[in-house]
Formats: sequence, structure tokens, C-alpha cells
Amino acid sequence: MNRSEFPKGFLWGGATAANQCEGAYNKDGKGLCIADILPGGKERFKIINQPDFDFEIDREKNVYPNHEGIDFYNNYKEDIKLFAEMGFKVFRMSINWSRIFPNGDEKLPNEKGLEFYDRVVDELLSYGIEPLITLSHYEMPLNLTKKYGAWKNKKVIGFFENYTKVVFDRYISRVKYFLTFNEINSAFHFPLFSLGFIDNNKETKEANLYKAMHNQFVAGAKAIKYAKSLRKDVQIGCMSIILPMYGYDSNPLNQRESQKEEMKFVDFPLDVQVRGRYPSFILKELERKNITLESTDEEMKLIAENTVDFISASYYMSGTITVDEDMNKTSGNMLAGVKNPFLEASEWGWEVDPIGLNIILQRLYNKYELPLFVVENGLGAKDKVEEDGSIIDNYRIDYLKSHISSIKTAIDDGVEVMGYTPWGCIDLVSASTGEMSKRYGLIYVDKDDDGNGTNKRLKKKSFHWYKNIIERNSL
Ligand code: BG6
Repeated sequence: MNRSEFPKGFLWGGATAANQCEGAYNKDGKGLCIADILPGGKERFKIINQPDFDFEIDREKNVYPNHEGIDFYNNYKEDIKLFAEMGFKVFRMSINWSRIFPNGDEKLPNEKGLEFYDRVVDELLSYGIEPLITLSHYEMPLNLTKKYGAWKNKKVIGFFENYTKVVFDRYISRVKYFLTFNEINSAFHFPLFSLGFIDNNKETKEANLYKAMHNQFVAGAKAIKYAKSLRKDVQIGCMSIILPMYGYDSNPLNQRESQKEEMKFVDFPLDVQVRGRYPSFILKELERKNITLESTDEEMKLIAENTVDFISASYYMSGTITVDEDMNKTSGNMLAGVKNPFLEASEWGWEVDPIGLNIILQRLYNKYELPLFVVENGLGAKDKVEEDGSIIDNYRIDYLKSHISSIKTAIDDGVEVMGYTPWGCIDLVSASTGEMSKRYGLIYVDKDDDGNGTNKRLKKKSFHWYKNIIERNSL
């Protein structure tokens, strides 16, 4: 192997989520999911954190870009053809839970929803592209939130079990790679997305968060157990935001604080899903805070016996931590801490840090000794379509190149990385802001924030660049 080449069989591809690209939010029997009631626009987060948020659609006040997405539901053939043209080996997609169980608590699935994913899976396979299916990507049926309190309620473990059994029964002979919960640790920042509820009660908030995450761990373990009973060589991964946290300076207090935050945010959920047990620092924290998980021995056994085959992750930025409260009040990165003076940020304030990806891959591989898979990474940016229809997105190429190079350096140092699927390989609706103008794609989609546009697909400069990388299996 040429030294600049990636390992043979490296899974190059791209990543999406159903709710952000499919559209057809109420077609063919689909029910509403959490993403369907989130309005478009930068105010999205403020709105969903309001204590009196009513989980209703209000078209007079808001637009709902997820409802139409980029119409992947009807356009999937053309899109997959473009993915194949780039040479994708794998395509990360999610199955929208509410397309299969519209209310979440039915006994029988919605056949029409299953048929849609049959068509998508078959289309991918016809080009030799492996589907990588996320079972839950911010798509909890809304009814489960309203009626049961979402992941707070142990009944939801059973509903998820019904859903995943149907999915595995249907697709496992054709699909080898699955992920359980998208960004399970986003619960700490965006509970509505990943846990399906907003909890504004100061007293119960933290306890409910841990209980709900615990229920997800149990549900994930059950899914793994069932899948393995059907297909021995199935590969199931967990999925987390991986975020190296730096101390703002060499003050040991800042170093200690950054380590504590990274352990809680990154390591805790991985410890449970990879090692099959809660880490002692979390057990101590729960004890100090008087939080009981309401877990049973049987649940702990399930978690211990059904761990993941690989660790998948999204990587967009690092975090910089200080104990200086005044600094914490005045500046901020999107997910953690204060502004890092050495890093530039995207228009949306996400600090670009390719070296951080290398640092965290090294650390996680050496701690867990499981293959890693970077299933999300990319630059959200505004694109300009030139008069001749070209899109010269050199900024995106630079971003992707520096991150891919960071992965390669990790591989050269012995880290096992299975593949790379940049986020939003085709433009889609942003999760945090509901905008179309925050674009990640290698393929441009003609649609604006208000839903206007032809939906036409255009190849960006990055499309050709990425195609070439895949072809050569080398940067
Ligand atoms: C991840 C999510 O957090 O980041 C995706 O898994 C999301 O759903 C992606 O789209 C990029 O974030 P955003 O807010 O720019 O769309």
C-alpha cells in the first residue's frame, strides 16, 4: 500500500438524517415526530426551550422546513445516483421512527413506511453502496412525547424495542451496519432532540436527564441483543459527539475542569455502551446529587452483555474551558466554554479545529480499543451559485481536507478508523437552526430558508474533489 493511501476497504461516503432531507412529513401514513414541530430559523432553540412550548404546529407564526426537506422521499433515485457517481462505499441515513410507527405505541407497523426504506436500501445496494442506518436520529414519534413523557418513561423502551425488531426483521439481511442513537450525549445540551422532552423543573431536570439516558442505554442494549440473534456479523455502533476540551491555559484548575467536562460529556456514555458499565465518577456524582436511576439488575446485565462493535462519532469543534466565571459569561463556543484565541469560527460560531479531531481519535482509540467511525463532520456555510451554475466552495474543500488529513495522521499512528461520512453530503435542513442556507453539501439543492426554489441538484466544486479522493483512496 502506498503510504498516502487509506486502508483497503475504508468506508468513504456521506451522512444524512431522514427528518432533515426526506420531507413528505405526513405522506403514506407517517405520523409527526419531534423534528416536525420545530420551526425554521435561528430562533429555533429559544422557541423550543420555552417552558410553555406546546408541541403544536403554528403555520401563522412559523415556517417548517423539515416538512418538505429536500424531498429525498421522491428524489432518492437521482440523489443516490449522484452518490454513486462520487464513488460512495457507504451512505449513512436514518429510518424515521414515526414513518414506521406513526404514534409510536401501535402494535403493527406502517407497511408503506417500510416499503419506502425497502426502495432506498435496494437502490443503494444496486450501486454497491452499503447502507449505514441510524435507528434514532431526533425522530421520536410526537405522541410518545405528549402521552408518555418520552425517554423518561420506561414504557418507551418497549415501544423502541417493537420498532427496532421490525426494522431488523425487515432489513438485516440486506444491511450490515447500524447505529443506535444519534449523538446520545447531546442530551446534555439539547434534550428535546435526543430525549424527546424539555424539562424546566430545576429540581427534577438533572435526575430526569440521567434516567432518560439510562432508558436509552437499556433500549440500545436490547436492540443489539436482538440484532445479533438474527445476524452474527451485524455491526452495531453507538454514536456520540466527540469534543476534546482544552484548558484555557496551563492553570491546573482549568486543566482539571476541562478534563472533568470531557469525561462527563464524552466518556460517560461511551463507558456505558462500550464497556457495559457506568463509570465510577458518574456513580459518585449521582450519589452526591441524590439521584437514583431506578435501574434493575436485569437492565444492568443487559447493558453489560450487549455492548457495541464500534464507536461512531460526529466531530465539528473542540471546547475551551476556564474556571474564570467572568470569562464564561462573556464569550462562548457553541457547545462548551469560551472562545479559543487560536481558532477561527464558522459563520455560526462553530470553531474549526482539525487537530482536535486527531487528539480525540487518538485518545478514544487508546482507551476503548474499538474501531472508530467518523460519521459526521463538515462545514456549514453559505454557498453562491455563479451564473454558469457552478459553486466554487473552496472553503468547504479546505475544511474537509484538513479533517481528513487529521484522520489519516491518526491511522498512521495505529488508530483503527473504519470510514468517513461527511455530514449533509447533499444540502439539507439544519438541525440547530432549521435553515437551508447553512449548507454542508457536496451537492447543492436549490431551496431557500422559506421553502422557495426548484429543488434542482447541482454539483459543487467539492463534489469533484471528493470523488477524486475516493477514487484514489488518498488525499
Ligand atoms: C449533528 C446532528 O449535531 O450536527 C445533525 O447529528 C446536524 O442532525 C449536524 O444536522 C449539523 O448541525 P446543524 O445544526 O448545523 O444542522
